[in-house]
Amino acid sequence: MTQEHNQHNHSADPLHAKKEAWSGRFSEPVAEFVLRYTQSVSFDKRMAMADIAGSLAHARMLATCGVISEKDFSDIERGMNQIADEIRTGKFLWQLELEDVHLNIEARLTQLIGDAGKRLHTGRSRNDQVATDVRLYLRTEIDEIIGLLCHLQEVLVAQAAKEADTIMPGFTHMQVAQPVTFGHHMLAYVEMFERDRERMSDLRRRVNRSPLGAAALAGTTYPIDREQSARLLGFEAVAQNSLDAVSDRDFAIEFTSAASLVMIHISRLSEELVYWMSQSFSFIKLPDRFTTGSSIMPQKKNPDVPETARGKCSRVVGDLVTMAMLMKGLPLAYNKDLQEDKEPVFDAIDTVKDTLRAFVEMMAGVEPNRERMRQAAASGYPTATDLADYLARRGVPFRTAHDIVGRVVRLASERACDIADLSLQELREFSDVITEDVYDVLTLEGSIAARNHIGGTAPEQVRRQVARWEAIFAERARQ
Ligand code: ARG
Repeated sequence: MTQEHNQHNHSADPLHAKKEAWSGRFSEPVAEFVLRYTQSVSFDKRMAMADIAGSLAHARMLATCGVISEKDFSDIERGMNQIADEIRTGKFLWQLELEDVHLNIEARLTQLIGDAGKRLHTGRSRNDQVATDVRLYLRTEIDEIIGLLCHLQEVLVAQAAKEADTIMPGFTHMQVAQPVTFGHHMLAYVEMFERDRERMSDLRRRVNRSPLGAAALAGTTYPIDREQSARLLGFEAVAQNSLDAVSDRDFAIEFTSAASLVMIHISRLSEELVYWMSQSFSFIKLPDRFTTGSSIMPQKKNPDVPETARGKCSRVVGDLVTMAMLMKGLPLAYNKDLQEDKEPVFDAIDTVKDTLRAFVEMMAGVEPNRERMRQAAASGYPTATDLADYLARRGVPFRTAHDIVGRVVRLASERACDIADLSLQELREFSDVITEDVYDVLTLEGSIAARNHIGGTAPEQVRRQVARWEAIFAERARQ
């Protein structure tokens, strides 16, 4: 028994139906343990508003089709408004005994309005009802997630605009490879989150289809209008096969999959923030409110938020695996297994939203240490490729140029100096096509500025991308 339950006592009313046998067909009530084991109200009550919206659309349609009276509909509407109010104000009495959100709300409706409440379930089953609720609920959450992704993109683009000229080492194999800009690096994540946004809005179309009217599995004998209830709920289409309509959860697999990719991207960024923050790198500072100390080592400032996010990625991927395993081998049509779809979907929603909220704020506060980044970019011969390109432009075949520069790097590293520290005369001993202007390509600035094409790291290109994104954001704001 729930705590709220003890505060009220409505014995012998519809709210307590389940303390007796399920119906005339049963000779004893459900065992206490079975009730706890099979209930879902503890977690599906969060879909209450979607459940009410779905019921109202169904009732409206039934009245239009003459299956219930207009009086029944207005009673149902009045009752549902009161219930919505009770739920919002925390006064609604949720009962485990009533199994799920659907039966809880329906029982309260009947308690409030009598027979009209009992007519609501005409031409419907909890099977199409729950499928409708999950879709409605998820649709709203997807819109919020898309909003957060856009917000995070805006924050990253603002960083890119500020740091278009900030030189840092670009890595392959975690070895210094070629210089890039911090702005360019930020824009790489903007692209990832753009694909996430696209995936979310694409799969939303498949979430946004109405199963309502499929009833238990085969449809219903009442003269219903599925297009009408779908329209009332803002669904884009009606699911065309009743068996599929009640048992399809592809959209939940798609959603947890897209959510996993969001978290995988966040996790990659987290990993970078963690090592950028380490003493050996010291590339960035995170605002103190996103870090924590150690209980034993007073000097510590730990990147807890990125590390937590990196860890939480695994639970969302776990949600995807749960959904995929749930559906594998599930025969048509509805099976109670499907009740297990909710917790993974809800967990993925909560985790992604919390994580994105944290990252929107945290990424806005990232402070790059420009000197340290530049210093790190300068060591490790990051302009070696530029020298090879220089030789190739002067007619040396690229493979030969590659080999020559390899020997130049060897000399410089024996002397523990930079390539640019070698004299023109020394450089010319490797190839006589080298002239004074070689020093232009050997600088970090020369190196990044030369990669001046779509997608390149040149500050000019970074600024162009920033302008492109800002135009996209302005367009989004207009919609
Ligand atoms: N709580 C159930 C679920 O989440 C609702 C549907 C129950 N249908 C049934 N035939 N038992 O799936």
